[in-house]
Amino acid sequence: MVAAILLATNGQGHNRHGTHTASTAAGNYVKDASFYGIAQGTARGGVPSARIAAYKVCHSGCKEADILAAFDDAIADGVDIITISLGSFMAMEMRYDSISIGSLHAMQKGILTVHSAGNNGFAPETVSSVAPWLLTVGASSMDRGIITNIALGNGKKIDGKSVNAFKMNGTEFPLVYGKDVTSNCSEISARLCYPGCLNSSLVSGKIVLCDEIKGIEEALNAGASGTIAKTGKTSDVSFVVPMPASALLTNNLKLVQDYINSTKEAKAFISTSETTKNIDAPLVASFSSKGPNPIIADILKPDITAPGVEILAAYSPVAPVSSNYISDERSVKYNVLSGTSMSAPHAAGAAAYVKSAHPDWSPSAIKSAIMTTETVQNLFKDNSIDCSKLKQVEVTDLNYPSMAIEVKKSVPLSASFSRTVTNVGLANSTYTATIDKSTSDCNITVEPATLSFKQMNEKKSFVVTVKGDQVRSMISSSLVWSDGVHFVRSPIVVYPKSLPIGM
Ligand SMILES: *[C@@H]1O[C@H](CO)[C@@H](O)[C@H](O)[C@H]1NC(C)=O
Ligand SMILES: *[C@@H]1O[C@H](CO)[C@@H](O)[C@H](O)[C@H]1NC(C)=O
Ligand SMILES: *[C@@H]1O[C@H](CO)[C@@H](O)[C@H](O)[C@H]1NC(C)=O
Ligand SMILES: *[C@@H]1O[C@H](CO)[C@@H](O)[C@H](O)[C@H]1NC(C)=O
Ligand SMILES: *[C@@H]1O[C@H](CO)[C@@H](O)[C@H](O)[C@H]1NC(C)=O
Ligand SMILES: *[C@@H]1O[C@H](CO)[C@@H](O)[C@H](O)[C@H]1NC(C)=O
Repeated sequence: MVAAILLATNGQGHNRHGTHTASTAAGNYVKDASFYGIAQGTARGGVPSARIAAYKVCHSGCKEADILAAFDDAIADGVDIITISLGSFMAMEMRYDSISIGSLHAMQKGILTVHSAGNNGFAPETVSSVAPWLLTVGASSMDRGIITNIALGNGKKIDGKSVNAFKMNGTEFPLVYGKDVTSNCSEISARLCYPGCLNSSLVSGKIVLCDEIKGIEEALNAGASGTIAKTGKTSDVSFVVPMPASALLTNNLKLVQDYINSTKEAKAFISTSETTKNIDAPLVASFSSKGPNPIIADILKPDITAPGVEILAAYSPVAPVSSNYISDERSVKYNVLSGTSMSAPHAAGAAAYVKSAHPDWSPSAIKSAIMTTETVQNLFKDNSIDCSKLKQVEVTDLNYPSMAIEVKKSVPLSASFSRTVTNVGLANSTYTATIDKSTSDCNITVEPATLSFKQMNEKKSFVVTVKGDQVRSMISSSLVWSDGVHFVRSPIVVYPKSLPIGM
């Protein structure tokens, strides 16, 4: 059974967020699910046969006591995996953080907690899920993307971002700029299509260009037929729009601005969204909260990424279809949402699969299997934790599937990581270490470089040593153990104490 501890986004009591995340973790098969035909196909959760227990912890706000009570209830109910798609805006000390505490209790009972990394990823050290016993999940794109094409009267076609279900009633529409169709606003406000700025009689039946994504709501209220807008911060994500609309990056927006300026009879058409093949996927989403870990520098976070961009999943028909536009009064059973909230239940599904194949595996074994893909490294050797012992261990020697260390800029680099692995492959097997050679900034060695196992569950230890000159910028590499069939990858990250801005 997968437990979903769910976030109901706001005080309105519409549980859309929980419906979406729960159905991603463990929903049943549904043929021909789509958002008005967009992203159509068979929808299913990570483990369709799993049962879901949902615990609603957010009513108006998400109270620490409610979060802890939900963990207690889920543990008492005997769940196998917990997935939790909520968290603080910034990382908190673990002893003050209900999710860190609740998930520690869950781990002691053999239950892995999968947690969203956060949606604040526009700078380093923004990850808010930091505890070593959590599986912290960032969001990445997948090979199916959603785009909305714009055709200009001069024949130019431009791909924009939005989830636009509307079919425009016609082949071309007059195109006007917000700044040219206002009666009582400054040029700056009108360019943004600021609330109250557009004159209905000047925009009715036309497509309006706005320099700001939020302008879509004003264009809708003023009776425009469509909107072309500048993307917000998350320019790599398509969001559901309440009218024919498409969002463009600055360079493409300029094409439209220039076109409007070049003619007295500008025209445009906005297509219904279509799905495309993202050839560069998976890419980490702009919004996905980033490491390094602001609380325990040497535990790399997030642990993994999973699909969290433009995810189609179940949705409450009484919830507003687009959270950004209150005027949108449509009702749907499936909706497209983006966030680490959407990626965490994907990872929870994977964890539930591992758990069903290996019911005896510990939470850290499951987590390690997902992070390294094949082998098992136990973070804690058994399920009883002696915290006094834990403190005596160097963080770099915690048996974590990834290796990270924050170093001083002023001294030559010298660091080592001790790890122990457990053989869960073939009884007789020999694994050889390979270091990703793409970094020439340091020398990384593994001792011993070969591990020979004679039986199942046999444990072997090794030490990874990193040496080099003073570290000026982040070094990232990886260690891969392979027997020629299985590949077990652990990221290695070394970074200087104060990170350069704009990384
Ligand atoms: C679409 O255009 C047709 C023909 O001009 C018109 O009859 C119909 O009412 C329009 N529908 C909408 C939704 O505007
Ligand atoms: C909107 O524009 C029309 C046409 O220019 C004008 O007659 C009208 O007064 C304007 N409305 C407002 C509220 O300013
Ligand atoms: C502009 O005028 C309209 C119509 O009078 C009004 O509804 C709107 O609030 C005004 N906008 C601003 C920004 O003052
Ligand atoms: C618009 O065109 C006019 C004349 O063609 C030009 O002077 C002006 O700089 C242009 N404005 C913009 C914003 O490109
Ligand atoms: C492993 O290999 C050794 C020697 O090559 C052999 O004696 C032993 O039976 C093998 N064990 C298994 C489980 O295959
Ligand atoms: C790596 O090791 C080689 C051989 O010992 C040495 O020449 C080189 O300078 C080292 N590189 C770094 C970055 O320390």
